[in-house]
Amino acid sequence: MTAHLKLQGVWKRFGGATILQDVSFEVAAGRVLGVIGPNGSGKTTMINVLNGVHRPTKGTITLGDDRIDGGSAHKLIRAGISRTFQNPRVFQSLTLLDNLLMVTEGMGRSGASTQRAHELLDFVGLGELATAVASEVSGGQKKLAEFARALMTSPRLVLMDEPFAGIHPNIKEDLMARIRETCDRDGITYVVVSHEVSELVDLSDEFLCLAEGKVLATGDPREVSADPTVIEAYLGTALGAA
Ligand SMILES: Nc1ncnc2c1ncn2[C@@H]1O[C@H](COP(=O)(O)OP(=O)(O)O)[C@@H](O)[C@H]1O
Ligand SMILES: [Mg+2]
Repeated sequence: MTAHLKLQGVWKRFGGATILQDVSFEVAAGRVLGVIGPNGSGKTTMINVLNGVHRPTKGTITLGDDRIDGGSAHKLIRAGISRTFQNPRVFQSLTLLDNLLMVTEGMGRSGASTQRAHELLDFVGLGELATAVASEVSGGQKKLAEFARALMTSPRLVLMDEPFAGIHPNIKEDLMARIRETCDRDGITYVVVSHEVSELVDLSDEFLCLAEGKVLATGDPREVSADPTVIEAYLGTALGAA
């Protein structure tokens, strides 16, 4: 099942602070939206709004035919949304296999879910580490395991917050290839936040730049990343320094 993501006039305020202002965009099913923007521009907040950690103050969000704004994180997993975190959130004392099985626990730990977990670990190249304890694998391997876990629930939309930060270039390439494969094969839609702009240009079908909580530019990844207003917004941060 594939689904189109659409945000219309999304606002997020925390107390007196306005963090997202009138954010609107769409991502077609099976496409990758790359999200860039300076530190503090609201990228993580947007991911948190998309997966139900935060309820938008105003605005609507739809995934396929479903309204998803205001749903709890748990409900949104059932609606087909999963995510990875800026700092991978794996259970350090559990094996990689058990980290994957955690997310289907509520649905029963069946032979089918164990088989699926093994298949997904194989898919991301961690098959031989299935029984390794998470604390013993590298940071990049944790990110791969977290990605495999995100796929356990057969999502329609996967949100990834800084998936390439601090990982070995080989793992980065693997991860990008696997993301692309699941889009093209399964029609999964992705929203990927990253400061690694050149990698993100290669991966994405479309780009969105956030600045001070507003959409500064959207469109073709190469055009957006070369847009003078985008470069200006980044001056002194990642893109400006690159
Ligand atoms: N729960 C919260 N309460 C108040 N302010 C928040 C909260 N979460 C994020 N912010 C603020 O929102 C702004 C955007 O943060 P964030 O979304 O993490 O930016 P980014 O991921 O683009 O670096 C920051 O100024 C941050 O301090
Ligand atoms: Mg962030």
